[in-house]
Amino acid sequence: MPELNLVLLGPPGSGKGTQGERLNEDLRLPYYATGDILRGAVRDETELGKSAKEYMDRGDLVPDEVIVGLIAERIDSEEARDGFILDGFPRTTPQAEALDAKLEEMGRSVGAVLLIDVSDDEVVKRLGGRRTCEANGHVFHVDFNPPKVEGVCDIDGSPLLVRDDDKPDVIRKRLATYHEKTEPLVSYYDDRGVLRRVEGEREPDEVTEELRRTLATMKLESDGAV
Ligand code: AP5
Repeated sequence: MPELNLVLLGPPGSGKGTQGERLNEDLRLPYYATGDILRGAVRDETELGKSAKEYMDRGDLVPDEVIVGLIAERIDSEEARDGFILDGFPRTTPQAEALDAKLEEMGRSVGAVLLIDVSDDEVVKRLGGRRTCEANGHVFHVDFNPPKVEGVCDIDGSPLLVRDDDKPDVIRKRLATYHEKTEPLVSYYDDRGVLRRVEGEREPDEVTEELRRTLATMKLESDGAV
């Protein structure tokens, strides 16, 4: 692959953020997580944040035109010359088409879409116990990945909070939004031959290993060695 343009796909709570951080360390590519970008804007009370907050708190998606502009400027930057990791984008068919169009303009394309497969029941368990670092979005779980000191981020010492959209009724709405708006992207990318499924209901380290293996195999295939 000339450069690695990578998309992480999966329902809320499937572990995209957890795995994205690890792949970011492995691959040394810029990591763009639209949820983190939007939460940063909400925290900083920018115009973007003010308009995004009401959608996010309801479990709805923010409008495509807002999010497409945010991502387009990042992938068309010097730091993304060798590729990027996208988490949380695209999330609708129009967003996927906009991404394809932007990459085509740059003579590039999506190289791999890694779908982290997790059931709705597992999502509810995970998001109910998630704790998120206030300063930098590092992710923990009270049972599955507890911090060393309760309520404190292991990595930067910031307080750990419950996200506003991790309330039970909003979790259910986010899942419904995923099935309606985002799941069609599974066949969108399958049809283009770039989708790989990874079983997400395993230990985080096992999921990371399978993601690494999958990327290594795709690289060999694209180099013509397999
Ligand atoms: P976003 O922040 O992207 O939320 P999401 O897709 O719902 O994903 P999450 O961050 O909830 O989960 P995750 O898959 O990253 O899982 P995590 O690693 O944290 O988006 C938020 C909102 O922003 C959207 O609802 C929307 O309003 C807006 N938005 C964002 N992008 C948009 C777009 N493109 N268009 C329009 N609107 C957009 O893991 C979850 C928990 O499980 C953690 O506690 C973790 O410790 C634990 N865990 C992880 N892996 C495992 C494992 N293997 N076993 C057990 N526990 C695990």
